[in-house]
Amino acid sequence: MYKITLLPGDGIGPEVIASAKEVLSALPIEWEFIECGIGYGEYERSGSPLPDSTLAQIRNSDATLFGAVTTPPNIPNYFSPVVRMRQALDLYANLRPTRSIPHSSSRANIDMVIVRENTEGLYSGIERVEDDGERAITERVITRKGSERIIRKAFDLARQTGRKSVHVVHKANVLRQTCGLFRTVALEIAKEYPDIIMNEMLVDTCAMELVRAPEQFEIIVTTNLFGDILSDEACMFVGGLGIASSGNIGADAAVFEPVHGSAPPLVGTGKANPIAMLLATAMMLDHIGENNHAVKLRSAIEACIANNETTPDLGGTLTTNQVTEKVIARL
Ligand SMILES: NC(=O)c1ccc[n+]([C@@H]2O[C@H](COP(=O)([O-])OP(=O)(O)OC[C@H]3O[C@@H](n4cnc5c(N)ncnc54)[C@H](O)[C@@H]3O)[C@@H](O)[C@H]2O)c1
Repeated sequence: MYKITLLPGDGIGPEVIASAKEVLSALPIEWEFIECGIGYGEYERSGSPLPDSTLAQIRNSDATLFGAVTTPPNIPNYFSPVVRMRQALDLYANLRPTRSIPHSSSRANIDMVIVRENTEGLYSGIERVEDDGERAITERVITRKGSERIIRKAFDLARQTGRKSVHVVHKANVLRQTCGLFRTVALEIAKEYPDIIMNEMLVDTCAMELVRAPEQFEIIVTTNLFGDILSDEACMFVGGLGIASSGNIGADAAVFEPVHGSAPPLVGTGKANPIAMLLATAMMLDHIGENNHAVKLRSAIEACIANNETTPDLGGTLTTNQVTEKVIARL
């Protein structure tokens, strides 16, 4: 029996989480689901967008599925529950798979994972304003420990998934200290993996190469901001936000989520595509060791897409619930 925390959140979050729960329940696996609050609705209920009880429950689970949250207009004391959750649980690795789908909007032969450092870099949260607001400074913190664990994660993932190469993406020619350290650590760690080819690429070149020939990449590992931007760029080659999923992995917890937000205009319309959430669910199945079911779930999803059993964002006419039912039928 696996203990899974469900974080529906706001907007279409509860709709796509319901889809994931139905699909998991259709598998021959025993689950215990525990729902916890996160987001703006939770803030209105309890005074916090991420109560301590939610964090404790995530720590106490085999894995967590997260829907989406709405960012409210400026409220003092409000904080991003997503950023806080990643920091509080030290979810240092953000994995963003990008894989071709059988659909006209998708380019062919793409099967890469962008491995993004999730806790430091330019998102370390160290910012200040000086000279009466005339100068604003954000510090970029890169540590040896942070670099080592994310780079090792990328090389391990390459081995586990039978990939042959890792692109280490940085800007060490200009950011000599921070990217320099990241690069130095990468060169050291690559020596431990003689079976995997390490390629280096500057981040601006990588942005161009992703557009020119995305199929050349198997695994990209990079720092926080670069990974944030490159992974959004990459998902547009294979169907966009309705199918983009991610996993946030730490030593003691793992949270899987669609990349999209709470999409307020879609709430209650049945137009929310559940596939991003379901692909995140497949990542979760891999994480807990149920790899066969992950493969079956991905195949069922791809068969639905190939047969136009999709929501309107992918050109279909089905609702969120109908797509969920089709995926289950194909399982
Ligand atoms: N991780 C998160 O929870 C997260 C991520 C991004 C944005 N947000 C929040 O979500 C709210 C809305 O933000 P936004 O509009 O910029 O981004 P969004 O991702 O909610 O929507 C962007 C566009 O994609 C479409 N879209 C999103 N998910 C879809 C799905 N499953 N199926 C079909 N179409 C989908 C939307 O209709 C919209 O056109 C904001 O409050 C924002 O802060 C949250």
